[in-house]
Amino acid sequence: MYLNNNNRANEKEESNYDKLLDKRQKSLEGGGKQRIENQHKKGKLTARERIEVLVDENSFVEIDSLVTHQAQKFNLENNKPLGDGVVTGHAIIAERQVFIYSQDFTIFGGSLGRAQATKICKVMDLAIKTGNPIIGILDSGGARIQEGVASLAGYGDIFYRNTQASGVIPQISIILGPCAGGAVYSPALTDFVLMNKENSFMFVTGPEVVKAVTGEEISFYDLGGSGVHSRKTGVSHLVGENEEKTLDIARKLLSYLPSNNLCDPPFNPEIIEEIDQHSLREIIPDLENEPYDMKEIISTIFDSDSFLELNEDWAKNIIVGFARIQGLSTGIIANQPLFLGGAIDYNAADKASRFIRFCDSFNIPVLTLVDVPGFLPGVKQEHEGIIRHGAKLLYAYSEASVPKISIIVRKAYGGAYIVMSSKHLGTDINLAWPSAEIAVMGAEGACRILYKNKLKDAENPEEVLEEFTAEFKEEFANPYQAAELGYVDKVIFPEETRKEIITSLLLLQNKREQSPKRKHGISPV
Ligand code: HXC
Repeated sequence: MYLNNNNRANEKEESNYDKLLDKRQKSLEGGGKQRIENQHKKGKLTARERIEVLVDENSFVEIDSLVTHQAQKFNLENNKPLGDGVVTGHAIIAERQVFIYSQDFTIFGGSLGRAQATKICKVMDLAIKTGNPIIGILDSGGARIQEGVASLAGYGDIFYRNTQASGVIPQISIILGPCAGGAVYSPALTDFVLMNKENSFMFVTGPEVVKAVTGEEISFYDLGGSGVHSRKTGVSHLVGENEEKTLDIARKLLSYLPSNNLCDPPFNPEIIEEIDQHSLREIIPDLENEPYDMKEIISTIFDSDSFLELNEDWAKNIIVGFARIQGLSTGIIANQPLFLGGAIDYNAADKASRFIRFCDSFNIPVLTLVDVPGFLPGVKQEHEGIIRHGAKLLYAYSEASVPKISIIVRKAYGGAYIVMSSKHLGTDINLAWPSAEIAVMGAEGACRILYKNKLKDAENPEEVLEEFTAEFKEEFANPYQAAELGYVDKVIFPEETRKEIITSLLLLQNKREQSPKRKHGISPV
């Protein structure tokens, strides 16, 4: 009798184990062999394969792999794939804990129903509570049509958490397939959107709806592919050549970010580079309006190969990105004279202000390299709202309480002088090179206004203008009036820049700044 009981108990135990093994196996199969093959044929990895590429080897721990939907209509009640179209859990990336969700296109096209949304919300909640970054890998047909409003509610729950997490933990969205309809607003609420060059699409209404409503015919790629979002809309911050490279970029991006808003950004004190900076003297051209590549200055000053540019192909007249200096993560904003002469237009203002607000939320010092002739003139700029967008940039610089350092390398004219991290917006250390020209406007333009009547009466107005311009330049096209007034703390030789930045960052590392008590300010978005 005792033996029988024992055998029965053993059998039961074994069948319990078999059941778990079976369920685990089934959940790993996703939508089945055929759909996985289809995914591979499209040049796409599966949800789990993507996680493997993204995280440190064997570090992913899956949760909720046995979740199924509870829907009862459209025959869904007879089709309950384990996991419900999303793989969720936590993992390590370069010694740091992260939370992850990865949509599984092989199950209902990765579409989001109630159960999938609840799984995503669970990892988002855990990420917020534990102060760790959340990374979403999106590949989905959007709201699961058969679940109706329950799917829409799921998106609402995610958007709410995206907003709660904003400024608390870094949020990264990696788009590796379709991201359609209102679903786009989750990545749009996150801090960084990464897209794969091929195969990833974001649009509020797809090509078919567009055709039905407006008659316009357009491909998926031309409507919302990586080209559109990296060059025209600015939605996508970084683009990878293929899935592996896109996931690799996400790892790199994370290396500049703290885990949450209460941590300092990563710092590697072992990196001590002695970089010869004398070549900086050769970069600024002799001729006033001659363009040059500001990225040459960036790559000379900061640690070798440490610059990660964001929105590289959008609003190219301003550069934003992360770089390290002596191992310390910093945010860089720089005018780019190669495009629009480095003038600020509405997109540049948008791009830079958002980046500054990110750095400020996550304790990343803001470093500004200035060469700006002004705001971009034109009817289009005025009518597209350069006033409103420009105000965002002023607001972002003024609001930021992280260490702020600026270096004027050439032009700093007019309102753009103020907006580009001037002393007047609370910048801690303002430096300028001897080549700096800090004035209300460019010398020639100023003389045309100041000496309008004299020029009108002159026999040879062009020659007279040249004389006036030369005089004006002597007086104002330099950093010394600003230095006399204390608006520039120090005029430095270009080769001293790296050392000055490091010294300033050390000086400012314990900076504390209080702003007036309020619920929140109202950025002119
Ligand atoms: C349910 C869906 C689905 C969805 C795809 N599938 N989208 N199931 N709800 N939203 C299923 C398909 O039926 C199919 O199932 C499988 O996923 C793969 O889809 P295919 O169409 O075969 O794949 P493909 O040709 O690659 O096309 C992918 C696609 C297309 C472009 C995403 O499926 C598509 O256009 N889907 C609808 C997109 C959309 O309009 N979604 C709603 C957006 S509105 P089988 O069983 O055949 O494999 C929205 C509102 C959110 O999301 C609001 C938040 C506020």
